[in-house]
Amino acid sequence: MVSYKELGLSNTKEMFQKAFDGKYAIPAYNFNNMEQLQAIVTGCAQTGSPVIMQVSSGARKYANQILLQYMAQGAVEIARSLGSSIPICLHLDHGDSFELAKSCIDSGFSSVMIDASHFPFEENIAITKKVVEYAHDRDVSVEAELGVLAGIEDEVAHEHSNYTDPNEVQEFVSKTGVDSLAISIGTSHGAFKFKPKDCTLTAEGVLVPPPLRFDILEEIEKRLPGFAIVLHGASSVVPKYVDMINQYGGKLDAAVGIPEEQLRRAASSAVCKINIDSDGRLAMTAAIRKVFAESPSEFDPRKYLGPAREELIELIKHKNEKVLGSAGRY
Ligand code: G3H
Ligand code: 13P
Ligand code: ZN
Repeated sequence: MVSYKELGLSNTKEMFQKAFDGKYAIPAYNFNNMEQLQAIVTGCAQTGSPVIMQVSSGARKYANQILLQYMAQGAVEIARSLGSSIPICLHLDHGDSFELAKSCIDSGFSSVMIDASHFPFEENIAITKKVVEYAHDRDVSVEAELGVLAGIEDEVAHEHSNYTDPNEVQEFVSKTGVDSLAISIGTSHGAFKFKPKDCTLTAEGVLVPPPLRFDILEEIEKRLPGFAIVLHGASSVVPKYVDMINQYGGKLDAAVGIPEEQLRRAASSAVCKINIDSDGRLAMTAAIRKVFAESPSEFDPRKYLGPAREELIELIKHKNEKVLGSAGRY
């Protein structure tokens, strides 16, 4: 058993308080390999942004849970070696059981999500409460979810979204004692968040999706004053990377994400954590495809993973500086 404190990691308590007061959002970037981890730490240290490095259960299996602990510790050391004092949180993304959350807490995670949002309300409360009790005894933060996002959440697929009901949030938070709440207001996971038929097409040929349900967010804020809200499925599906992927032999048709304006608006509200995975995947894939297309005889992984890592650093700096407002806070 190892506590996150021994690894130099931070829970989300102070991060969220500062983000709430400063009207910005903490970036939560998913990772499952060394290049992603290096890019996240480098991009956040260079921009002076607090960061949540998150791991899904699939990513944990992929990366190996023992290695993850050392990778997280390594991330803290890298940030310090760059002269940075940013707080770094290691978070379980979409934990689906008490056992998984416990196992992560016992191996050095400083924050866990228990996602029982697909269960009936009372069951969601019961599972979440159990995780909160175990986590809080160890000073670990807990995120839960109310409402269901469309798209794919790890191994659980939901075709239709189910917006969060503002009438449920107070009871849920007071009965469970969670530190933050993920809500459903129109975002979804993956690169295909909206069907083209639901979007409007601009004269420049850009698909503009319907706006997020800020009215629901405002209702939730009224009922939970000062409380940290989390937005999942918040990639913009950056058109530059979709175009690059298609240009260099890929095939991504009608990929649409959340426009940056809407994320800026969310970040300046009670939304204190914004989850980004797909954009990082797209940036790396675009860079790798470019190398493969332009240098077909290249077979040294450093020659394509290196540019992919550089592209991810650029994306992260852009998000922190221009979208989430988290840059320059530490
Ligand atoms: O919310 C899901 C994340 O994007 C993680 O995806 O389960 O493929 O690692 P994954
Ligand atoms: P995206 O698929 O929009 O990047 O969302 C990631 C996410 O919510 C991880 O939990
Ligand atoms: Zn998610």
